[in-house]
Amino acid sequence: MNPFAVFQKSNIHIVSAQGSYVYDEEGRAYLDMYGGHAVISIGHGHPRYVNAVRQQLDRIAFYSNAVENKLQDQLALELGKQSGYPEYSVFFSNSGAEANENAIKLASFHTGRSKVLAMSNAFHGRTSATVAATDIGSMRAPINENFNFVFTPFNDISSLRKQLETEVFCAVIIEGIQGVGGIHVADDLFLNQVRSACDDTGTLLILDEIQSGYGRSGRFFSHQYAGIKPDLITVAKGIANGFPMAATLISPSFKPVMGQLGTTFGGNHLACAAAMAVLEVMKDEELLHNTAVVGDFLQEALKKIPGVEDVRGRGLMIGVEFEKDITALRKSLLYQEGVFTGYAGNYTLRLLPALTFSLEQAQVFLEKLKRALKNEG
Ligand SMILES: Cc1ncc(COP(=O)(O)O)c(C=O)c1O
Repeated sequence: MNPFAVFQKSNIHIVSAQGSYVYDEEGRAYLDMYGGHAVISIGHGHPRYVNAVRQQLDRIAFYSNAVENKLQDQLALELGKQSGYPEYSVFFSNSGAEANENAIKLASFHTGRSKVLAMSNAFHGRTSATVAATDIGSMRAPINENFNFVFTPFNDISSLRKQLETEVFCAVIIEGIQGVGGIHVADDLFLNQVRSACDDTGTLLILDEIQSGYGRSGRFFSHQYAGIKPDLITVAKGIANGFPMAATLISPSFKPVMGQLGTTFGGNHLACAAAMAVLEVMKDEELLHNTAVVGDFLQEALKKIPGVEDVRGRGLMIGVEFEKDITALRKSLLYQEGVFTGYAGNYTLRLLPALTFSLEQAQVFLEKLKRALKNEG
């Protein structure tokens, strides 16, 4: 048997990692500007994280949601405090798609409506509802083509308002910063206007902070720059620094109904221990502050590099758009300079390093990028 070949892969075998570096079988170091796709929040192999997971493994790794789990309560309390949403409830699950699927389902249960309004260029996951809310036709099978999902232009309030005035939508779903779509920030004004339009039409607002949340923007959630409060917020990726976990944050206007949501693995003991270690490190090492400082420095420096057309994003979620196709540049960065990067389309580099990424490491990256651009000619 072979793994089903649906991923475009680099021919590099990563066997270990520390901080912002990963290492291949020959011991070659790579600077990780990709964070395993925005998943590595507190850095690879953080000693507090490793110890917390190890100790939990010695006690118990898993038991089902059929029994009380104090670790979930402790995690919920700390997440509420650090995120600025202490009055919300949380439902733990296992992947970003699942967190969004649960948010969409809750919005529909709550309003009795069945349509969802999503943004052009959106990406929300691969499960039935989330892929239907994803504006990439090639990812949708015929069974996912679903008239309940409608797309409206990103950052365009008049089109959105017109749709919501029909009062058939249970929810609007928006990424705080569009990731797969090319690192486009949801404007603060737009988010405020969306919040008002939702309130006026009995529609719920879901903020997908799966990539842009958990400190990546320099605030806990990227929508907090706009000063709004969504009804539902989804998180995954950085929540447990690589241990599969996700969560849906739910406003107090929702009352839980027995059996409406469920999961076998979600919120298990090991996942909670990993996620708790992440929050402790985020707080103690002031990673939101570091992300904002290093992110600003990197963005300003990137703007000055010849050949760079545009730099977008917030904190350490950065899109660098080049005048030329970046395929050769990414290869040169990886194989000659030893740097992992992400991409969005053919012209935009996607940078998503750990939130522990330092100013010194940012300098190292900038030198490597300049050299790769020069060698490319
Ligand atoms: C904004 C956004 N939403 C949802 C998802 C889906 O998350 P997962 O792959 O964990 O299901 C992703 C993953 O890249 C994402 O970036």
